[in-house]
Amino acid sequence: MFPTRLLRSLRYCLVLAVITATGYVIVAHLSRPYIQQRSQHKVSEEQTIAENNVLTSDTLYWPKPPTALVIGNKLWTGLPITEAKETTYSLDNPKTSYHVGDFVNVTIVARDKDGQPKIHGGDYFQVRVQSPDGDSAAAGQVIDHDNGKYTAQFRLFWAGEVKFNIRLVHPSEGCYLLNYMWEVCPLRLTFTSTFMGNNGSSETTECNVFLDEDVDQCDYSDQSSGVSWACVKPKTLPCSSRVDHKVDYDLSHHLNKLCFFLPSEQRHMISSLVTYDEEKGGTFKKTIKGRPGSINVNSTYVPIKVSLRRPPCESGIPTPSAPTTGFWHQDVWTSTVCKNRHFPRREHYFKCLENKELYFMGDSTGRQLYEFLVFSILNTTFSAVDPSITRRAGPHYAVHKASNLTLRFRVHGPPLRTGGINVTHINYLADEISSVRGGPDYVIIITMWAHFTSFHYDIYIQRLRGIRTAILNLLYRKPDTIIVFKTASTRTGVPRLSSDFFSSQMNKIIRKMFANVKITILDVWDLTLSHKNEDIIHPKQVIVRQEVELLLSYICPS
Ligand SMILES: *[C@@H]1O[C@H](CO)[C@@H](O)[C@H](O)[C@H]1NC(C)=O
Ligand SMILES: *[C@@H]1O[C@H](CO)[C@@H](O)[C@H](O)[C@H]1NC(C)=O
Ligand SMILES: *[C@@H]1O[C@H](CO)[C@@H](O)[C@H](O)[C@H]1NC(C)=O
Ligand SMILES: *[C@@H]1O[C@H](CO)[C@@H](O)[C@H](O)[C@H]1NC(C)=O
Ligand SMILES: *[C@@H]1O[C@H](CO)[C@@H](O)[C@H](O)[C@H]1NC(C)=O
Ligand SMILES: *[C@@H]1O[C@H](CO)[C@@H](O)[C@H](O)[C@H]1NC(C)=O
Repeated sequence: MFPTRLLRSLRYCLVLAVITATGYVIVAHLSRPYIQQRSQHKVSEEQTIAENNVLTSDTLYWPKPPTALVIGNKLWTGLPITEAKETTYSLDNPKTSYHVGDFVNVTIVARDKDGQPKIHGGDYFQVRVQSPDGDSAAAGQVIDHDNGKYTAQFRLFWAGEVKFNIRLVHPSEGCYLLNYMWEVCPLRLTFTSTFMGNNGSSETTECNVFLDEDVDQCDYSDQSSGVSWACVKPKTLPCSSRVDHKVDYDLSHHLNKLCFFLPSEQRHMISSLVTYDEEKGGTFKKTIKGRPGSINVNSTYVPIKVSLRRPPCESGIPTPSAPTTGFWHQDVWTSTVCKNRHFPRREHYFKCLENKELYFMGDSTGRQLYEFLVFSILNTTFSAVDPSITRRAGPHYAVHKASNLTLRFRVHGPPLRTGGINVTHINYLADEISSVRGGPDYVIIITMWAHFTSFHYDIYIQRLRGIRTAILNLLYRKPDTIIVFKTASTRTGVPRLSSDFFSSQMNKIIRKMFANVKITILDVWDLTLSHKNEDIIHPKQVIVRQEVELLLSYICPS
């Protein structure tokens, strides 16, 4: 079900100034009570199953503080909130010696500002182990016992010192508030488009996933692609005269105030809850104290890579329940999921990619992979014959004649959180997937998450459904097409728009949505979380290179 129930409860409006080329200002009043339940496009049986899987399961379950309530835009937590300074961890069953390959557990005890233990779960932690220089690192997995205690599970991958690093990203009350905001403010960003007339006149209007139904609007939705998109209809120009797409932060800010207005002391509380510092402009994951800070690990006779007994990298293999999908050693990622390969020289890349056509589709975190191949492997520069093609939006195309390799990039379209997108260059991904010829030489790499964290999850789910149907149709037509879905990675940013909490929930949706489809989930979450340069929306080249090599491991498993 699309979130009609939630969205119907909304009733806020805004005033949008529309500046025309002739210089006067039109003021449009928009109110946006709800999105109309759209008549559902006929879906395949399989798609219906996926839909039910996602929506009836506990996929997005997150424990809620039992006494928290929002009344009249004020959060009442009832019980005191979790305080990072008082929260500690300790090692379970300390042993006299540890060996590479061992599993270790750490217990986290959440406490409030008075040092009193918390009695419920829902705090969001990120955990990892690192060598003192940070060159060796691995993520861990957190189990929430919903009683104020958490188990962080780790595996030991290297000999020597292993330091624990446990960080509180959001206290449970912060997660609660983020989930609440997500429900009352399903659209936390808004956009505008400019329309251009033949005689040089222009108008700019607001656009979003949906608008108030009684506003005259241009509908750019496409049911089968899972895209819902509309702009306020310009007063004098036709819907077909839309030329660009851009995010409007000022208008978004205004809108958010209307849908979730907070008095200043509450704003302060939110900032401290979600550990976001407006001035420094980042999310701060607060490191928790504990004992021991580190343990010493002895090597084993059998090297870890041998004892892992990994299968070759092939699509459709399940993710093991191991506490991490791999580990770092000196900027080289070793996957624990499958036997990932490394490609030390350009020739190794060309050998793997000979006669292949790679389609990168989605957001900039996927474009980074495309650009790594183009700039660092093909050794060409960005050049577009058409000046309206920008680096951000593309579409891009690069060829390596000697190895008959073709690379393409296409952006996923609205709700792209950028400006200056020429709408003629936007093609919805499901259509793009359907247009691929397919077969063993065709590889599609989809990355779509970062621009959806400021919207209700259902908007993301709807889009993924369209993509899933297009993939199923392509695989029906050409079963040996290689399809890869790259997950979200860790980042910093304004929590309300970009929290890792939202992205980590979206990764669960991706896994659920493609659970029975023969595609590869290129899981890069632990990879960015554990690297010493973690938490940058656009990871550094050393990280991107390992992401590309992991991708190539699936294209050329041996
Ligand atoms: C770690 O904790 C989990 C969950 O509590 C448990 O299943 C597992 O056996 C523990 N592992 C070790 C090595 O103690
Ligand atoms: C340009 O065209 C629009 C729409 O057709 C019209 O409303 C407007 O008056 C025209 N402007 C000029 C300067 O001719
Ligand atoms: C493990 O290493 C420690 C030093 O860190 C050493 O004292 C101990 O004897 C080693 N144990 C084994 C079983 O190798
Ligand atoms: C180049 O690769 C494509 C598949 O991507 C293939 O169809 C074509 O035959 C190849 N051309 C040559 C000359 O090998
Ligand atoms: C990449 O291209 C530049 C300029 O075309 C050239 O100077 C350089 O040697 C090339 N690098 C490699 C590794 O081929
Ligand atoms: C948008 O792209 C089209 C096709 O490439 C081009 O003709 C047009 O001039 C571009 N519009 C703008 C505003 O750059």
